[in-house]
Amino acid sequence: MNAPRCDETAAWAALAGHFQAHGRDFDLREAFARDAGQGAARVAALSFEAPEVFADLSKNRLDAATLHFLLELARECRLEARRDALLAGEVANPTEGRAVLHTALRAPRGEGPFSDEVHATLDAMLGYADAVRADERFTDIVNIGIGGSDLGPAMAVAALEACTLPRQRVHFVSNVDGHDLAPLLARLDARRTLFIVASKTFTTQETMANAEAARAWFVQQGGTDVARHFAATTTNVKAAAAFGIATTFGFWDWVGGRYSLWSAIGLPIAIAIGSANFRALLAGAHAMDRHFATAPLAQNLPVLLGLLDVWYRNFHGFGSRSIAPYHQGLRRLPAFLQQLEMESNGKGVDMAGRPLPFGTSPVVWGEPGTNGQHAYFQMLHQGTDVIPVEFVLVKTPSHGLAGSHAKLLANGLAQAQALMLGKTEAEAAAETVPTADPAFDRAVLARHRSFPGNRPSTTFVLEALTPASLGAFLALYEHRVWTSGALWGLNSFDQWGVELGKALANRLLPRLQGGPQRGAAEGLDASTAMLLRRLVGGP
Ligand code: F6P
Repeated sequence: MNAPRCDETAAWAALAGHFQAHGRDFDLREAFARDAGQGAARVAALSFEAPEVFADLSKNRLDAATLHFLLELARECRLEARRDALLAGEVANPTEGRAVLHTALRAPRGEGPFSDEVHATLDAMLGYADAVRADERFTDIVNIGIGGSDLGPAMAVAALEACTLPRQRVHFVSNVDGHDLAPLLARLDARRTLFIVASKTFTTQETMANAEAARAWFVQQGGTDVARHFAATTTNVKAAAAFGIATTFGFWDWVGGRYSLWSAIGLPIAIAIGSANFRALLAGAHAMDRHFATAPLAQNLPVLLGLLDVWYRNFHGFGSRSIAPYHQGLRRLPAFLQQLEMESNGKGVDMAGRPLPFGTSPVVWGEPGTNGQHAYFQMLHQGTDVIPVEFVLVKTPSHGLAGSHAKLLANGLAQAQALMLGKTEAEAAAETVPTADPAFDRAVLARHRSFPGNRPSTTFVLEALTPASLGAFLALYEHRVWTSGALWGLNSFDQWGVELGKALANRLLPRLQGGPQRGAAEGLDASTAMLLRRLVGGP
């Protein structure tokens, strides 16, 4: 579809002018102070309700004029028409010749493209998941997969631990490093273990190596029934059969790896939480899909977040965004979002192959609060870079421990407050610091102890971490990443950037396997040759 790239629009020029006049020096504290009701009107205008997710955007460096220009940008880039084309299944990934239809995986029966195939596979996969869940023999389920075949399921199983069975453990092995699989195998009983080999392509080196090692271990433990103890989730059903796997759940090339947790790749999630909860996860995501598809742009939360991302990346120049989930269950969320956002939008050319004159994906990173506070929040508060933070707060915990949840939430709220309000040197100077060297200059001490403030953040609130709210929250991020990628003119659905390293590793492997021998490092660049010699020895 023909649409201008963001920087070819009148809105882009208007945003550049607006940034010079009001954006560069925008001060959040002033914005709250000059607003009616000490910021109440600002908060009302910049708080948004989407299915299962409430978002407070008021602590961000934007105002009504910024939003106006950003929404103009979306209109000029024909965002709605492009979204409709995406959801209708037009080829959105032309470098791989594919449609992008993970949304079809969570559409109710009878709705959306490919409904019959999707629901037939889903029913079969969930029937199997419930049978495994009920099978007393299986105490351990091991998902072997990497990237999208690992991160989504691993994150979701951790997040939904409250729905899992205490007698059945679900493990995730991804790294080709034997230190991942070996210690796990040492704790397992082959007779009570089910392995799931999860790979869209069924060719990924890491996954194949781990699957073969697991099968060898199983046989060595006296296991004979590979067909019963191994299942596969893949689009390459033939390769799974060749591996000796009888139970395979397929999916389709229009499901991108990083969008595949909603497909058969979700099998370990379904085993962990049961079919009803898995359907609730899909329903939550579908509710967000409807919001994305139908809400006016000015109330469309994923679109607004994507626009904010463009504003921060291309005008403010912020190259990083930190995720701070205040829920231990979301400990793998930053890793999942890293793949979602950085594999999707970490690109340097547009759809037409033109090098981009502006920045694209920020670095996405984070750790659960409150742990991050005691590690890198120092830099967020006082470092030289401004890094927008996203706080994820969950109102109702899934545990019954008294007292801890209020403390957790108080910390999350306080961090956002501290980032925004900061502390002046005068405020710092007014405080007594018993531990400071009495000879140390008081004014200098106050400078060390002051906080610049005006550091932006977004706060999301979920009522509880449930399958439905998790589904909605993840779909929110998927659509947000699409929004910024579409405005930047990217193909957000390919990942050619991972190929070169894979090819070079395959070429280096025989040199490492050959051990110390003359000529093993021949033809390599001097640095790699030296490292190879150091690792394998030899001349
Ligand atoms: O290395 C990148 C990648 O292709 C991801 O996009 C994908 O999620 C991952 O590898 C795993 O691929 P597969 O599911 O085919 O094993």
